Amino acid sequence: MDQRIAIFAVSVIFSFLVCGEANLAKMTNAVCKSYNESWVVIHYCRLKAYSRTKTSLNINATFIEPAKKIHVHAKMMKRANGYKPFLFDYTLDACLFMRRRNQPFAKIIWNFIRNVSTVNHTCPYEGLQMVSDFHRIEVPVPLPSGEYLLLLDWLFDLKPQFATNVYFTYVEDIA
Ligand SMILES: *[C@@H]1O[C@H](CO)[C@@H](O)[C@H](O)[C@H]1NC(C)=O
Ligand SMILES: *[C@@H]1O[C@H](CO)[C@@H](O)[C@H](O)[C@H]1NC(C)=O
Ligand SMILES: *[C@@H]1O[C@H](CO)[C@@H](O)[C@H](O)[C@H]1NC(C)=O
Ligand SMILES: *[C@@H]1O[C@H](CO)[C@@H](O)[C@H](O)[C@H]1NC(C)=O
Repeated sequence: MDQRIAIFAVSVIFSFLVCGEANLAKMTNAVCKSYNESWVVIHYCRLKAYSRTKTSLNINATFIEPAKKIHVHAKMMKRANGYKPFLFDYTLDACLFMRRRNQPFAKIIWNFIRNVSTVNHTCPYEGLQMVSDFHRIEVPVPLPSGEYLLLLDWLFDLKPQFATNVYFTYVEDIA
């Protein structure tokens, strides 16, 4: 997949992940795991409920060694007799992505995360990493109603180190 399309797809996913009451997108579960505890320790990975239709994501993890080469393998799944691949399965160079803030789609994501996380800088990343109260409401996008799962596998030096997987439901706005 072309990088531009992928960034667009990721930004679309982000934009409806963060939607609140408006279009009835709601994160329903967050599952994080470290594959290598000598590099990444996850302290906290949880959703906070605001209301029946709104939750926020909170992650607190420590990178024990500096991570200089970071890739994110993003895979979208939609539930239909188990979760099946949907829309995109793409690996992004996260360090390159953070350097190119002038890139329009990167900027969308940057704007989502800049105030709610410690990831608002370029590589390397070391020490405490946090995503706090990630719930920002954004422009709704048309997608089929259903249950979704966004699998994010984080690779350092091209080797998987940890995963942050977020389940969510989306109800199409037919109004
Ligand atoms: C696990 O982390 C250690 C410490 O940073 C690193 O040296 C090692 O290469 C990592 N192992 C894998 C399989 O990524
Ligand atoms: C992150 O989690 C650890 C372990 O639960 C905790 O000790 C630390 O205070 C947390 N840090 C922040 C800034 O929330
Ligand atoms: C982030 O915070 C800055 C400064 O407080 C503010 O100007 C900006 O609008 C905020 N951005 C988002 C996306 O909330
Ligand atoms: C990144 O976010 C933190 C916490 O909101 C803020 O203190 C810091 O100034 C931001 N850094 C940049 C480069 O925007």
